[in-house]
Amino acid sequence: MPTGLTWIVLILLTIVASQAANPSHLVRNLPGQPQVQFKQYAGHLVVNASAQRAYFYWFFEADHQNQTSQPLALWLSGGPGCSSVGAGAFGEIGPFSVDISGTKLEKRRNAWNKAANLIFLESPHGTGFSYTNITSDYTIYNDEMTASDNLQFLLEWFRNFPEYSKNEFYLLGESYSGHYIPTLAMKILENNANGKNIINLKGFSLGNAWTDPAHDMRGDVEFYYSHSLIPEQTYNELIQNCDFSTMRPILGGSMNPNCQGASAITNRLISGLSHYNIYKPPCKNGSSITSQSLHTNMLVNAYNPCDDKTESYLNQRSVQASLNLASSGNSTNSWKLCNSKASEYYQASDIIVSMLPLYKSLIQKKLRIWIYSGDADGVVSTLSTRSWIKELNLTSQTPWFAWSHKDKVAGWSQAYNGLTFLTVLGAGHMVPLDKPQQALSLFEHFLKGKVPPSFAN
Ligand SMILES: *[C@@H]1O[C@H](CO)[C@@H](O)[C@H](O)[C@H]1NC(C)=O
Ligand SMILES: *[C@@H]1O[C@H](CO)[C@@H](O)[C@H](O)[C@H]1NC(C)=O
Ligand SMILES: *[C@@H]1O[C@H](CO)[C@@H](O)[C@H](O)[C@H]1NC(C)=O
Ligand SMILES: *[C@@H]1O[C@H](CO)[C@@H](O)[C@H](O)[C@H]1NC(C)=O
Ligand SMILES: *[C@@H]1O[C@H](CO)[C@@H](O)[C@H](O)[C@H]1NC(C)=O
Ligand SMILES: *[C@@H]1O[C@H](CO)[C@@H](O)[C@H](O)[C@H]1NC(C)=O
Repeated sequence: MPTGLTWIVLILLTIVASQAANPSHLVRNLPGQPQVQFKQYAGHLVVNASAQRAYFYWFFEADHQNQTSQPLALWLSGGPGCSSVGAGAFGEIGPFSVDISGTKLEKRRNAWNKAANLIFLESPHGTGFSYTNITSDYTIYNDEMTASDNLQFLLEWFRNFPEYSKNEFYLLGESYSGHYIPTLAMKILENNANGKNIINLKGFSLGNAWTDPAHDMRGDVEFYYSHSLIPEQTYNELIQNCDFSTMRPILGGSMNPNCQGASAITNRLISGLSHYNIYKPPCKNGSSITSQSLHTNMLVNAYNPCDDKTESYLNQRSVQASLNLASSGNSTNSWKLCNSKASEYYQASDIIVSMLPLYKSLIQKKLRIWIYSGDADGVVSTLSTRSWIKELNLTSQTPWFAWSHKDKVAGWSQAYNGLTFLTVLGAGHMVPLDKPQQALSLFEHFLKGKVPPSFAN
């Protein structure tokens, strides 16, 4: 016979269990979706009630027999202003991609929810379906606001899904998430220091992360020169005249006329390439290369693969209804892959601020930090990332080694005390898009905290 106390515990457990997962956010009858074993939830959560901001998320349970005990991870795409649902979930690592008709979904073989429960969050406001009711706030964006709204989102999400509060939790992203994720990690640690609503953050991983322009932009110039895209004279002019610490991709923002001249030459010389993977054919519209590769100033243009049908898919009323959007306050849900206004209005001094001081603190907090880099990216190049990692003066844990996937070299790696670095051979800015198998392997090793096997010849 259970004692009185046991009954109370059992009743409490029943209440907790019945509060698990927000049932009103369950995704039902998603148009064009193949059959799957895992559940999905999507909808808006208010991140700032007084400023009337609400963020949209899409949560995919792990596609795994032991789903509930798999880690939980949050993915943030960069831009600023690009949708994690469009770029991250459909474009790179989610369980589905949108087929060529724009009305059907296909299963992704190397989806990252094979290894973790995955939340895709559209952040900041104005990105994807995330919105504010204060129209004038569509011109106000900065790292502090994004990070505190992201933290509020997480607190609200865990209130809706309390059963995940004990799972290991990780942050994932690429590109401008090089800012979103260290700043959010810091906010989470500050929140946890209050001792309430603790978020079980274990670490983060970032691909081709925009981190520190002095290193990132100089690294790009080294990359163009070492890949024979620019002549020695242009290289020398850039190195001698540019103050890289005030610049942004691709070689924009310099006030120095000599730097501007050499930047213009560089931009002309590389204009026929896809900057996000110099070995991939650029998107073409008829005979002209589309704006993806020509409009070069912002990270926002990273997410624009040729013939992407995600916009057609997500702008269908029936799709929005099954994502629980029809009933939200905003009746004009028009979805775009990237909101260029968020980039345009993002506080310029924040875009070029260095994240290295944050890394010094985060490393001391013993978070698991994995930094990977597609080595064909011309926007945040591998040399860019290696340059700022060197600046951190970390001590080495392993020598530089070739890591392998299925008995082939997948890239190179070095583990330091506090941070693990990996390159992905032949991948561009969006590593999982170009090298899906290697990217999933890297993710699985990250979750285990174990460097991938070294190539044995
Ligand atoms: C809500 O947003 C306003 C304006 O952006 C800001 O001043 C305020 O601090 C925010 N509140 C919270 C709880 O983050
Ligand atoms: C599920 O995962 C938990 C935690 O890792 C483990 O203890 C348990 O044995 C697993 N169950 C099965 C059926 O694999
Ligand atoms: C509704 O959403 C659109 C697109 O995200 C936005 O431009 C508009 O301002 C929003 N309207 C309201 C009332 O929130
Ligand atoms: C492609 O070219 C056509 C005709 O010039 C134009 O209407 C269309 O907007 C272009 N599409 C893109 C994605 O640039
Ligand atoms: C935005 O305005 C609509 C319409 O008044 C309302 O239903 C919705 O709750 C508001 N959103 C937020 C986040 O306050
Ligand atoms: C790394 O060491 C160099 C030389 O000692 C120093 O100038 C630099 O500030 C250090 N970097 C960091 C991030 O501590």
